[in-house]
Amino acid sequence: MKGLVLSGGSGTRLRPLTHTGAKQLVPVANKPILFYVLDNLVEAGVREIGMIISPETGKEIQATVGDGSRWNASITYILQEYPGGLAHAVQTARDYLADSPFVMYLGDNLIGSGIREFSERFRGETPDAQILLKAVEDPSSFGIAEVDERGHVLRLVEKPKEPRSNLALVGIYFFSPKIHEAIGQITPSWRGELEITDAIQKLIDWGCRVQSEIIDAWWLDTGKKDDLLHANLVVLDEWIRRDVRGEVRGHSVVTGRVQIPESSVIVDSTLRGPVVVGENVLIERSFIGPYSSIGNGCVIRDSSVEHVVILESCRVEAIQRLEDSIIGKNSVVRRRDGQTEGLCLMVGDDCVVEL
Ligand code: DAU
Repeated sequence: MKGLVLSGGSGTRLRPLTHTGAKQLVPVANKPILFYVLDNLVEAGVREIGMIISPETGKEIQATVGDGSRWNASITYILQEYPGGLAHAVQTARDYLADSPFVMYLGDNLIGSGIREFSERFRGETPDAQILLKAVEDPSSFGIAEVDERGHVLRLVEKPKEPRSNLALVGIYFFSPKIHEAIGQITPSWRGELEITDAIQKLIDWGCRVQSEIIDAWWLDTGKKDDLLHANLVVLDEWIRRDVRGEVRGHSVVTGRVQIPESSVIVDSTLRGPVVVGENVLIERSFIGPYSSIGNGCVIRDSSVEHVVILESCRVEAIQRLEDSIIGKNSVVRRRDGQTEGLCLMVGDDCVVEL
């Protein structure tokens, strides 16, 4: 079975962060979302992977992910000239996929489990399609499935205004080559995209076998600021172990599940986990509270932060309290004078915020 990872698209919902970078590379607990996707595919035995990229962010993705040797996998990049929809992405990868069954994985989706169990079921039962579902609170933001009591899919609708079910399509789909025929028969939706939901609906209309599975694990579509902070919180909560290798100097206290690599230095500071600190970070006279990810090359001085995602090479200086915030890479947030208590920011890449 091949893999098809979708890392194209325009990523408007995470702006301003994704003005300058690919949304699939935004880090959760200091690791790009796309890396979790590749980990899961490889763990399920999928090592031949096609990666859909866009003209805008494709180079950055290629430079970060490489040829797949890091995962012992082979990655082939496939350029999608414009974001014509998920089914359009499959069409673009038609030659690469040939007549192989494949798993399609959206590059901005994170799930709290592996996919091996689902992939084994698909390989064993060989349906025409297998989708994963999860109950959500805001069904009109997703593709939604109506299923009968035996899990057979009756109907799929993309972002319905009046949803008839709360079961969302998780961005991981298993397909037989029959999907290509179905994609050949659909037309663009109201949002101008070739929807994979419509292609799967075609399979259902033709009487093909489309099976579903409701996942128990958490699932996060990391497209928005609050989702990203939440993803960071969940991953830090569940997957981070204490591993302090860096230098901890002076009157510093590091409690709980905190990761500090050898190249980073903590001086006269308190870190309270779960916290991940990247490479070559300096934290001085500061407090880093729970659920914080501090990217590579950051300097945090005379500040107090909690529940924040700070991307690489940022400087945060003399900020009394920064919470629930995302700071894009190469940014500077510093106080010149005055009060800065209780700040909550979403700062894009390469910014300077003086308060
Ligand atoms: O996250 C799950 C949802 O993903 C499903 O419930 C929906 O049924 C499905 O349509 C999809 O909805 P989104 O609106 O969230 O999809 P988005 O446009 O964010 O694209 C998902 C990923 O696919 C993202 O990593 C970008 C990539 N993509 C997207 C398009 C439209 C491409 O590579 N090419 C594209 O043409």
